[in-house]
Amino acid sequence: MTLATKKSATSSRVALHHLMTPEHANALGNVHGGVIMRLVDECGAICAMRHARRACVTIAIDSMTFREPVHVGALLMCEARVSYVGRTSIETSVRVHSENPITGHTTHTNSAYVVYVALGTDGRPTPVPELELETDEDRTLFREGAERQRHRMAHGE
Ligand SMILES: CC(C)(COP(=O)(O)OP(=O)(O)OC[C@H]1O[C@@H](n2cnc3c(N)ncnc32)[C@H](O)[C@@H]1OP(=O)(O)O)[C@@H](O)C(=O)NCCC(=O)NCCS
Repeated sequence: MTLATKKSATSSRVALHHLMTPEHANALGNVHGGVIMRLVDECGAICAMRHARRACVTIAIDSMTFREPVHVGALLMCEARVSYVGRTSIETSVRVHSENPITGHTTHTNSAYVVYVALGTDGRPTPVPELELETDEDRTLFREGAERQRHRMAHGE
């Protein structure tokens, strides 16, 4: 398999939709935060793997704030895109929305930046394609991502 040296964020975007059922609920009857965190990690990981075309493992998840409860019966929609890449690491920006499928009412539930490391067949970090910056949004996210990564490394987060 030949690996690309440069790839756009568009080529690895991912959207996952999940219907929230009683098995996802906490004691209050709302969706458990851990279920949402798992979905965020899954969505980001698929996005990172599509960029690297390698196995990727999670190395860091930035703080997550749950703005609104998610109710059983809601459609949870998770979208991920690559925001920054280093040599072997890939930062993804993941946004979660919840939709009431009856009314169509949609709320922004939470957002997170999740960083993955691509692994070679030896299980060690391996270089990933550069990110082709096509839009102003790409450039802004990349610049801010470089700053976030510097901050993570400086603070051992
Ligand atoms: C991922 C892993 C293989 C990296 O090994 P390592 O020896 O730390 O590798 P390196 O020091 O070469 O760092 C690899 C990349 O991670 C980045 N990194 C290291 N620590 C980081 C942190 N705290 N936050 C964000 N990125 C970090 C480095 O900057 C480097 O990226 P770059 O090549 O783009 O500059 C190793 O830490 C590991 O196996 N972790 C467990 C992963 C896992 O099991 N996750 C599942 C959930 S627990």
